[in-house]
Amino acid sequence: MIVGVPRENFPGERRVALVPAALANLAKAGMEIVVEAGAGAEAGYPDTEYAAKGAKIIPQRSEVFRVADIIVQVLAHGANDKTGSSDLPLFHRDQILVGFLRPLGSVQSITEIASRGITSFSVELMPRTTRAQSMDALSMMATVSGYKAVIVAADTLPKLFPMLTTAAGTITPARVLILGVGVAGLQAIATARRLGAVVSAYDLRPVVKEQVQSLGARFVELAIEAKDAQDARGYATAQDESFYRRQRELLGKVIAEHDVVITTAVIPGKKAPTLVTKEMVAGMAPGSVIVDLAAERGGNCELTRAGETTIEHGVTIIGWVNMANGVPYHASQMYARNLTSFLALLVKEGKVQLNLQDDIIRETLTTQGGEIVNARVREFYSLPALVRQEGAKK
Ligand code: NAI
Repeated sequence: MIVGVPRENFPGERRVALVPAALANLAKAGMEIVVEAGAGAEAGYPDTEYAAKGAKIIPQRSEVFRVADIIVQVLAHGANDKTGSSDLPLFHRDQILVGFLRPLGSVQSITEIASRGITSFSVELMPRTTRAQSMDALSMMATVSGYKAVIVAADTLPKLFPMLTTAAGTITPARVLILGVGVAGLQAIATARRLGAVVSAYDLRPVVKEQVQSLGARFVELAIEAKDAQDARGYATAQDESFYRRQRELLGKVIAEHDVVITTAVIPGKKAPTLVTKEMVAGMAPGSVIVDLAAERGGNCELTRAGETTIEHGVTIIGWVNMANGVPYHASQMYARNLTSFLALLVKEGKVQLNLQDDIIRETLTTQGGEIVNARVREFYSLPALVRQEGAKK
């Protein structure tokens, strides 16, 4: 079983799907690794390190696709909406692809993957169960993004984060507000606290209050209650417009009291809710910073421009997409660990086992045999249910 690691080709992408340290475990499970030359270079993993761990380095990208049974990528077609389609002709029928495919992003790109006959797995669809925790790439990238968002904010804010008592007087600590306390939000709280900021956080799911407080932050209570705030998978549920309107009314004053606002609020498969309006931005002190981690999904701030940093009313609004790419060494290491765990489940005794009784395999399998086979993805795009969906095809 040959696993191919092409060099990421999304513009500016620095991560790599497998790191040299991950290769020993894969070899033990009967997998050989081929790596496109330079694939890990920008993340801090030179070709020589892969070669030292037994990988074969291949100069041509097309050759990596030709020889591999399984292709692993960070941003595959779908998630890579810039250059991902250039890889499609390189795949062969029934070749396996594992990566970020953004399955709920565009039906067109998923259909294109299906049409190539690729057996693809979207890491975004990993069930959030204890057994799948070591494969949960979404959470790993959210962790890195939450950390990096705070570092970028601290670097941009014209103020110090910690309280300092100096001969020139006392400096008051920066006030940081985190909106949306999932995995990224929790890491942002912890990072901002480590830098000495005073941190507040808000989420519509009341269950996170305790987690916020255990990290030493204040939980912002708003006088509104979300209806069925959380679904069975632990994700926030979409609310009606009257909820969001009331939420914005109440958040306005809270936002004006903060130097830094980091927003992470998303609803799977939906446009991110607007939490920060342009009036709220105008109400913030000049020099304040907003980091919008939901930029790629439409943004939590009305003035966010995806992929850009802008200054409005003296407030810097950072709308970078793909924040985890800013820490490529560790982001790649974590992702490689996720993939290694997943591949260990998928490949048994040197053979791919498409065991659809296994919820991890079934829920991440996205396309196979020319069709979109994932029940959640089909339902999302209102495609008719496939009769053979439940394990008929192996
Ligand atoms: P996410 O990235 O989908 O969303 C980020 C946060 O935004 C969520 O906390 C959500 O409640 C919040 N949000 C959405 N709309 C909002 C609004 N209008 N106002 C304020 N906040 C809003 O979330 P993530 O990080 O993927 O985590 C979701 C849940 O899944 C969490 O409870 C997390 O602990 C849980 N989880 C469980 C795992 C497991 O069991 N293995 C692994 C990872 C996460």
